[in-house]
Amino acid sequence: MSIESIDFHSLKAAYILDPTITYLNHGSFGACPKRVFLDYQQWQRKLEAEPVQFFEKNLQPAINRARVKLGEFINCNSDDLVYFPNPTTALNAVIRSLKLTPGDEILSTDHEYGALERTWKYYCRKTGARFIQRPVHLPYTSKKKMMADFLAGITPKTKVIFISEMTSMTAVIFPIKEICRNAEAAGIMTIVDGAHVPGHIELDLSEMRPDIYTGACHKWLSAPKGSSFLYVKRALQDQIDPLVISWGWESDFPGRSQFLDYHQWQGTRDMSAFFAVPAAIEFQNLHNWPEVRNRCHNLLVEARRRISNITGAETICPDSKSYFGQMASIRLPNADPIKVRTALFQEYKIEVPVFKWKDEIFIRVSIQAYNSENDVDKLIEALKRIVS
Ligand SMILES: Cc1ncc(COP(=O)(O)O)c(C=O)c1O
Repeated sequence: MSIESIDFHSLKAAYILDPTITYLNHGSFGACPKRVFLDYQQWQRKLEAEPVQFFEKNLQPAINRARVKLGEFINCNSDDLVYFPNPTTALNAVIRSLKLTPGDEILSTDHEYGALERTWKYYCRKTGARFIQRPVHLPYTSKKKMMADFLAGITPKTKVIFISEMTSMTAVIFPIKEICRNAEAAGIMTIVDGAHVPGHIELDLSEMRPDIYTGACHKWLSAPKGSSFLYVKRALQDQIDPLVISWGWESDFPGRSQFLDYHQWQGTRDMSAFFAVPAAIEFQNLHNWPEVRNRCHNLLVEARRRISNITGAETICPDSKSYFGQMASIRLPNADPIKVRTALFQEYKIEVPVFKWKDEIFIRVSIQAYNSENDVDKLIEALKRIVS
């Protein structure tokens, strides 16, 4: 196998990651390059050097710049996005603002992220609305069929479609643009969970036209932890209440946008992770990211094939960039997930999640810029010993 032309070793050295660990779990919490982390710490130092001057003078230009750079990256107006620490917090602000009434339906899938399933269930219990999780069966081999099955769940009571663009446990990509178009035509609000998308696959919000979208910058964009965003279509912004009421509500100095006033200014909080997002975007630009992505995906295609050869289990989606990116979940039939994960880490120093989802066991492999063929070889050799 020879997929290498990028110098994975120098890219590995660019990250803070412990070099003694074979790190194949970028998907859970990301991993930050040294120069991006340095930028983050420089913001923190600047703040601590003169807190009053920083909050009064430097904060506003820094947060504006961070929004403008991110807006350019995901192609939306920077006034239509606001930073949040993580997608669950961002969507809690949205979900708790919805005026749902008994019988209203939220149409979703059975592949959604656990914290957000809980948020919907909590809020539905309070309002009498229903959270409908339509199954997307595996293998997932046709986007057309997935979409038709999913949209068949729309009823006159459907008020919201909530769906991940890239799923957490199964790591597959759903046809979000097409779903947004159908929802738009039916007058249904779309709330898209794109936690894994920024920096991983192309994201163009103007082209996609969701009503509401959240993404994490600390995952595949490799920004510092606690940097995520919420995008809300202009016409809906006034409907989103602040999750924490602070100075921006009935502000003494209202800005040009109630959306920004409500959600952005939360008193004495450290926004350095947000300010470092432009450095994370620049890091990808400096390292020819389209090529990095390509190579990571191709390496993952090989890894998937080799793991399936060991187990004899069918893959869960086609070998195609439109079905998965740099993260893939692969079946490990009959394995004990805790034992396999523990053995991989303790005996082989391989960090990779192994878990039960529904009635099946999966290993979710992430390949990021710092991973090499050698990392995949190590995983395959370890799995051959552990699971066969
Ligand atoms: C699909 C998906 N949505 C949302 C999240 C948000 O994570 P959190 O808000 O818990 O940091 C994740 C994290 O892994 C995820 O995989």
